[in-house]
Amino acid sequence: MKTAFITGIAGQDGSYLAEHLLEQGYRVTGIIRRNSTVEHQKNRIADLDIEVEYGDLTDQSSLERALRIYKPDEIYNLAAQSHVRISSDIPQFTVQTNAVGVVNILEAYKNVVPEAKFYQASSSEMFGSSVDADGYQRETTPMRPVSPYGCSKVFAYNIVHHYRNAYKLHANNGILFNHESPRRGSNFVTNKVVKGAVEIKLGLANKLELGNMDSYRDWGHSYDYVRAMHLILQQDRPNDYVVATGITRSVRDMCDYVFSKLELDYKDWVVQNPKYLRPEELPYLRGDNTKITTELGWNPTYTFEALMDEMIEHWMQVYQSQ
Ligand code: GDD
Repeated sequence: MKTAFITGIAGQDGSYLAEHLLEQGYRVTGIIRRNSTVEHQKNRIADLDIEVEYGDLTDQSSLERALRIYKPDEIYNLAAQSHVRISSDIPQFTVQTNAVGVVNILEAYKNVVPEAKFYQASSSEMFGSSVDADGYQRETTPMRPVSPYGCSKVFAYNIVHHYRNAYKLHANNGILFNHESPRRGSNFVTNKVVKGAVEIKLGLANKLELGNMDSYRDWGHSYDYVRAMHLILQQDRPNDYVVATGITRSVRDMCDYVFSKLELDYKDWVVQNPKYLRPEELPYLRGDNTKITTELGWNPTYTFEALMDEMIEHWMQVYQSQ
């Protein structure tokens, strides 16, 4: 039986990945952060047969301790301060966690289980303002990040290469474009829009405040993207892969779809609040998934519409069962 170790196991991706690996017959382990509201910290993973220790990317001793206990075959580093706009409010914490924290976990990995395989949650936010002439971002696209979050992820991406080359570690980057689900935090735009629209439909709210509605994102489903993470670690050689749907839509398009589905016109309900704008916007993301589809046979199973419909259904059930 293989053992997987997941940082960020209590998050959206961590919980889908834990479920997927349990289905594959893995022993699934991980770390969770200490939190003052104990009831909330394992919400997404409460029903799963997994083992967790307390730990934090900023505390290397906790990482080494956990790796010594579990001796994993595969390490998935999903923990991060993952909110791009908030990274401008807490830039130092973001960099400590997402950049220095990756040095910490790489050191712990090298010291304790160097024969294991390692996955780093790299991000399309690393591309920032950079787009190839054909309108896509891909593994070879230059990186020009536009946020503390994006800068921290570029550092992590590069240091993974360094550990791969210098110490011959099986260290990989998945460059994931936006991926969502009903388990998404409700301050990310998809879940914020769906939850807000459902509240308006049910008479529980009378407006939805958003930031930039004219930015474009390539949105997939977390369920599909954790399968890509696992596939990446099944290869003989370490590598980097873009994981994306290849289709891009604006926040406005998304609002139009979600509100229309609820027989509402988003223009009657959505207002802009400058508080949700970013110091430097990233206007456009669209990933070219050719490498992972051709080399690893990965393909997304969810369409954008199926993803949104599942999220609408989720929030309808939440409110109607109250
Ligand atoms: N969160 C948020 N809230 N975003 C808004 C809002 C709002 O009220 N209004 C407009 N947006 C726009 C943002 O400006 C951005 O262009 C887009 O919606 C998506 O924002 P988020 O859902 O917050 O995601 P993100 O693209 O910034 O980052 C996510 O995807 C990255 C991969 O590209 C996060 O999951 C990152 O951790 C991930 O690396």
